[in-house]
Amino acid sequence: MSQTIHTAVFPVAGRGTRFLPATKASPKEMLPIVDKPLIQYAVEEAIAAGAKKLVFITGSTKQAIEDHFTPDPELEEALAGPGKEDLLDSIRNILPPDVSCTYIDQGEPLGLGHAVLCARPAVGDEPFFVHLCDDLIAGEPPCLCQMAGEYGRHGGSVIAVESVPPEDTSRYGIVAVNGESQRVTRIVEKPAPQDAPSNLAVVGRYLLSPVIFDKLENTGRGAGGEIQLTDAIADMLEESPVYAYPFSGERYDCGNKLGYLKATVAYGLAHSEIGGPFREHLRELIDRN
Ligand code: G1P
Repeated sequence: MSQTIHTAVFPVAGRGTRFLPATKASPKEMLPIVDKPLIQYAVEEAIAAGAKKLVFITGSTKQAIEDHFTPDPELEEALAGPGKEDLLDSIRNILPPDVSCTYIDQGEPLGLGHAVLCARPAVGDEPFFVHLCDDLIAGEPPCLCQMAGEYGRHGGSVIAVESVPPEDTSRYGIVAVNGESQRVTRIVEKPAPQDAPSNLAVVGRYLLSPVIFDKLENTGRGAGGEIQLTDAIADMLEESPVYAYPFSGERYDCGNKLGYLKATVAYGLAHSEIGGPFREHLRELIDRN
């Protein structure tokens, strides 16, 4: 099974209310981690895993995302002088020339499952990635590359998981797996700790069989009154195998302020230009307090 995954879907229609007022007029996916917006980290990960077609499921106030991935000749012209080569490079090569973008308006915010279903016409009848850019994962190789490798071993669908504290199960999709094969036997959206089948949580990376679309067509509203991707995955477990994949890497939940700050610090420390002085500053700050 050496099929390359050509398409990556990015559901980006959420309003990002946890970051208000920062996200009143600007999408949460454009929040920067040091010098790149979250959506660019997401796109770079998908491209590293082989994706050539990027499908953004958007909502209102998301124009900035499209603008970010559209060439800006005026800005390129302004940076054309000597000494600005790095800056020019950083905006000119955001996307390789063989990668295309499609933007689909979700219309109504009916949930993650609904967002993925909106991508159906663009994806077609092929397996595809779903990437939730709230979950920033520092991994080598990048998480979606690891998952594509796992898919190469057995096909089906692959979802990234990690253990979470038992009291946090109500924030995630939670899976039960067959120990040996890691095949998912049950998946539940945001169960209370006493109802959770395990503490193995789904994080924001999926490699899905197109079988999911037929299931989504018939998925009613679930947890939180939304059409849940988790419920459609539960519907396909018997027909089409789904494997849980405990990725290697560090996940930062950038959907909340603390996780976002942790990511900023980690990526700041690792940054080639400011990492050294930033480390020194943090040391001084800690000594002073
Ligand atoms: C979504 C999914 C959930 C998953 C989570 C990962 O929830 O519905 O199953 O565990 O992403 O980040 P959300 O965070 O959008 O509420």
